[in-house]
Amino acid sequence: MVIKSKRNFPNLPYFYSLIDWKLPTLSRRKSATLKAQTIDDLARAAKKRVPKVVFDYVEGSALDEIGYSRSQRAIRSVQFNTRILRDVSYVDPSEIIFGKKVDLPIVFGPTGYTRLMHHVGEPAVASAASHNNLIYSLSTMGTVSPLELAEAVPDCRRWFQLYVMKNREDSAAIIKQARDSGFEALILTVDTPVGGIRLRDLRNGLTVPPRIRISTVFAIARKPIWWLNLFTTKKLEFAAFRGWTKSLLELAGTIYSPAISFDDINWLQSAWDGPIIVKGVQSVADAKMLADMGVQGIVLSSHGSRQLDRGVPPIEILQDVVKAVGQKMDVFIDGSFMSGQDVYAAIALGAKAVFIGRAYLYGVMADGERGVEKVIELMRRDFINTMALTGNRNLAEVRQTGAILGTK
Ligand code: GLV
Repeated sequence: MVIKSKRNFPNLPYFYSLIDWKLPTLSRRKSATLKAQTIDDLARAAKKRVPKVVFDYVEGSALDEIGYSRSQRAIRSVQFNTRILRDVSYVDPSEIIFGKKVDLPIVFGPTGYTRLMHHVGEPAVASAASHNNLIYSLSTMGTVSPLELAEAVPDCRRWFQLYVMKNREDSAAIIKQARDSGFEALILTVDTPVGGIRLRDLRNGLTVPPRIRISTVFAIARKPIWWLNLFTTKKLEFAAFRGWTKSLLELAGTIYSPAISFDDINWLQSAWDGPIIVKGVQSVADAKMLADMGVQGIVLSSHGSRQLDRGVPPIEILQDVVKAVGQKMDVFIDGSFMSGQDVYAAIALGAKAVFIGRAYLYGVMADGERGVEKVIELMRRDFINTMALTGNRNLAEVRQTGAILGTK
């Protein structure tokens, strides 16, 4: 016998109760942000919003761009160990960094030229970080100065990224600005003795601010809103190097010092009395030397594969580094972390927290501060979900339960 449904007259109140009366948003930008389920979704939205030269600057890496995808594969190869039958009704993803709590084990890493990505720039990113009780790092190549950032987001926990420049007095002047503007820690980037060779930027002729050429007119026609924002807001410049219009490679040649050495760390320790984090460590041996010198933290970093193309993916040496120096200092990591699961992988292998860069830049390019908020929301969602599904209620348990690096 075939079973049939008994039919009634349509139940109109029930039908009405199912209708979602909320009007769809008319802003395509906002709608794309609301619908985004991954940071890749935001990256796709971002690509539609900004000129190719800008998107390429963010997405690109050095030379053959092999390291970036290798890093991503390494992170995604990590498999999570799991515990069951532990009450996970409440999971706490917070961490204590330099004595104060952050709500997720994520730090906003330093990225240059943020106003090129969206006219709201660094203060909007820092504001999203601050709303979510996270730390923001301002780059020496920032488009606002340390003081301007401090004035715009006084409540944000701020770290300042520094290069040891050819001229130490230049470094000292910037350190003073950071100190006077309430920055809590210095991040010294050490993987830039020379600039990386980024073929996309060279092909696109990237300069900051962008030069107006005949081809720019076509670019303006393609992304009019981005250009309108550029021309109607504050002048786009490196706040620390006002007046420069050279190519990025030339600028890098001036501020990166090929002579940088461990002596510079000693010098920095005498010039700054707060925490020092050395970014760009790529070996256990260097991590040990820095731990012996008494720096407070390191970032295992491939600089997003924007410097050396074929370095070892940082996640592959994370466990060995944590084993060697984790008791003495905080071990952070970066390099293509694009989701809460990616962040989980690093924490489970022992990292203190993960620096994100491109991930939030996709958000800011897609939709300014709202896009950055979305990046945090997605990372939090996936991180907490993964904590619950692996049976871990806090980060100590995540690290204890651990994970397996697939490539070893
Ligand atoms: C700056 O640090 C960059 O990677 O472009």
